[in-house]
Amino acid sequence: MTNPDPRAALIERLPKAELHLHIEGSLEPEMLFDLAARNGVAIPFASAAEVRAAYSFSNLQDFLDIYYQGMSVLLTEQDFFDLTWAYLLRARADNVCHVEIFFDPQGHTERGVAFATVLDGIERALKQGEAELGISYRLIMCFLRHLSEDDAFATLAAAEPHLPRIHGVGLDSSELGHPPSKFERVFARARALGLHVTAHAGEEGPPEYVNEALDLLKVERIDHGNRALEDTALTQRIAAEAITLTACPLSNLRLCVIPEMAQSPVRQMLDAGLKVTINSDDPAYFGGYVNENFRTVADALDLSEAQIVELARNSFTGSFLPITEQARHLAEIDQAARG
Ligand code: ADE
Ligand code: ZN
Repeated sequence: MTNPDPRAALIERLPKAELHLHIEGSLEPEMLFDLAARNGVAIPFASAAEVRAAYSFSNLQDFLDIYYQGMSVLLTEQDFFDLTWAYLLRARADNVCHVEIFFDPQGHTERGVAFATVLDGIERALKQGEAELGISYRLIMCFLRHLSEDDAFATLAAAEPHLPRIHGVGLDSSELGHPPSKFERVFARARALGLHVTAHAGEEGPPEYVNEALDLLKVERIDHGNRALEDTALTQRIAAEAITLTACPLSNLRLCVIPEMAQSPVRQMLDAGLKVTINSDDPAYFGGYVNENFRTVADALDLSEAQIVELARNSFTGSFLPITEQARHLAEIDQAARG
């Protein structure tokens, strides 16, 4: 049945790519419980409802503490497969046909789970998703920025034997106090290995962190980028260089990066001619997948249909897909936009 709300109907039928999704952040409370039981891991909650009630955050660190705790139930290759497969089914339901997902190997290796166990499970689901759901993918390994440069180098070394299966590196976790400059050398090595590069910057951190991500890490995309808007020259630079920003509206709201959805930076980003995209970040924790993020921000900012189409187009032109693939998706968007 088509949605009677024309804006929601357009969002539903547009093909979309998701460029900012932490696979561990798609661990729904029900699966957290199932995996805890399957693996005999104790969790300090009595029900999925109790888990959801605990998801109240006043900043990024509040969330990260719970996010890392949630990961403790992920132990086997099958766990990582199940997690990723559940996400792909949700993505398919939202008409997402390309995903570039993050994973946090250090969140697992530091608990004694082998790098290959994580990668094998995630990749098996991604391959099955490509074959059975028609969802293409790229896989981006993130360095946890609260850990040391040495740790990041060790993680890159662990990834090297698997490199054709990993397409890029990212930078996530606690932003304040951990500037991109801390990872300049490890990103240089990743680029030399032919990996794509992106980094979280300007979510809580100042505009200088966004400048550093561009100048020192030489990133192709900025994840979030909210606080770049505080610096006019930086904003103009992001526009001129057509750097893609992966905005995450529900995440921003739930982590108190913005006081209300009407303050989402998406409006200012569009007005400034920036290539912004809409993403779910950690949907199990923030209350919605891609379409819910589109709907909420489009309603709060009263976005036009043309702006919604632009956001969907940006998700492909900002992706790591080859231009020919991007063009095929853009043609499908044009067709879907005509209704
Ligand atoms: N890891 C998972 N979600 C994150 C976010 N929104 N910011 C930084 N690190 C994260
Ligand atoms: Zn993120």
